[in-house]
Amino acid sequence: MSNKTLAIIKPDAVGNGFTGKIMDRIIEAGFKLQAAQLMQLSREKAEGFYAVHKERPFYNDLVDFMTSGPCMPMALEKDDAVNTFRSLIGATNPEEAADGTIRKDFAESIQNNAVHGSDSNENAQKEIAYFFTSNEILDY
Ligand code: CMP
Repeated sequence: MSNKTLAIIKPDAVGNGFTGKIMDRIIEAGFKLQAAQLMQLSREKAEGFYAVHKERPFYNDLVDFMTSGPCMPMALEKDDAVNTFRSLIGATNPEEAADGTIRKDFAESIQNNAVHGSDSNENAQKEIAYFFTSNEILDY
């Protein structure tokens, strides 16, 4: 699964009406959309997704933010999907993100940073399975 990544259009971007614009950027960059669902995360679901950050000072605020409105997880396919997607979205902090990246153009802050992208192939596999069953991932 080294050619897949999990992306999430986060509640800030969905709420600000950027879902379509961000999806356009992703598709134009050559990613194939294999699964997508607009969903409202429960607290438990958001806590589980970010469990690796449990001890970080921003964890509770991050869970509040991720449950503050709908978000859109997506499974994406492309050669070297994890690295290519991370380049497309830019640095975690939009103030440090390169010009032309999704976070530079659409994010509000280091927390409300518009999109998530998996940070390794191993995590991509786990994160895709956290939101989608194998039947929901369309290989075409
Ligand atoms: P993401 O790439 O989804 O991974 C972890 C998330 O935690 C990150 O995007 C931000 O939304 C949030 N985050 C990371 N660092 C900070 C920080 N220093 N302060 C607040 N939120 C952060």
